[in-house]
Amino acid sequence: APITAPNIAQCGPADLPQDAQGDHNCCPPVAQNIIDFTLPPTPATLKVRPAAHSVDNEYLQKFNRAISLMKALPDTDPRSFSQQAKVHCAYCDGGYNQVGFPNLDLQVHGSWLFLPFHRCYLYFFERILGNLINDPTFAMPFWNWDNPAGMQMPAIYADRNSPLYDSERDGPHQPPTLVDLNFDGEDTDMSTDDLTTANLTVMYRQMVSNAKTARLFLGQPYKAGGSPRGGGSLENVPHGPVHIWTGDRNQPNTEDMGNFYSAARDPIFYAHHSNIDRMWSIWKTLGANRVEFTDSDWLDASFVFYDENAQAVKIRVRDCLDTKKLGYTYQDVDLPWLNSQP
Ligand code: C2O
Repeated sequence: APITAPNIAQCGPADLPQDAQGDHNCCPPVAQNIIDFTLPPTPATLKVRPAAHSVDNEYLQKFNRAISLMKALPDTDPRSFSQQAKVHCAYCDGGYNQVGFPNLDLQVHGSWLFLPFHRCYLYFFERILGNLINDPTFAMPFWNWDNPAGMQMPAIYADRNSPLYDSERDGPHQPPTLVDLNFDGEDTDMSTDDLTTANLTVMYRQMVSNAKTARLFLGQPYKAGGSPRGGGSLENVPHGPVHIWTGDRNQPNTEDMGNFYSAARDPIFYAHHSNIDRMWSIWKTLGANRVEFTDSDWLDASFVFYDENAQAVKIRVRDCLDTKKLGYTYQDVDLPWLNSQP
């Protein structure tokens, strides 16, 4: 049977790391009623998520305003930035049990749930942003770390006066330091050119050679009553390394980005995951056996999120397989890693 949307009224204390900072309660407000997700009517034009390093000033103003408004909502509002950050903590640090299995945590990392969970999470986050600025066409940016032009922390997040800024990021990794997609906790001494080439090779490996099937790319099956048995190539690398690379090495748990409970407190989390999501869309176009699971235990797995009207919505994996049906796509940018076989 599929893993189903948790009962949010039964959200409990999360298993936080030692010295966890800030609010230790990850639970969302309890929902009065939960509706089933239905696809929005096909829009005349798709929202286009832009590369964060190339947005213009007009876009940046809008995005800043949307994030500021989200941060200004009361903490009790499920659409507020602090509640949005808690969504990640609740689903990743044992805030929820699996329905019917009170002794088993629900965990959305390390399995085939990773990509669909984060896609749905961002989808509602983006709808909330658009609603706050009365612009339903608003699309969130992606951190284009797979392209040399985007291989730094995007500058828009590094401005101390911006609502996109977060003080708990690694000092030595501020721009213009190049990201290391294979980061393992040790800074590399490679030259800029060598690291760029190494990063492209990592991308080729994780998207092409190590990603020839759904299991290899999306992750191992995870069904009701089971435990996660392994994430897919992209979740492992570069998803994980970029989290650790961004988090502050001087915090006890590499907060914010370097730990599940705190990662989504950093606005850059959503840009990082937007690129992860983009990679999923691209992977499907790479051919051969790169087709998604047809197992109904994957397709019928579900999650619950709050939408832009503070309405709780249950969404299934099968609802989120096509971003165009969800109303968005990604700015077209070169994929130099496609020709970077080692
Ligand atoms: Cu839910 Cu990037 O992790």
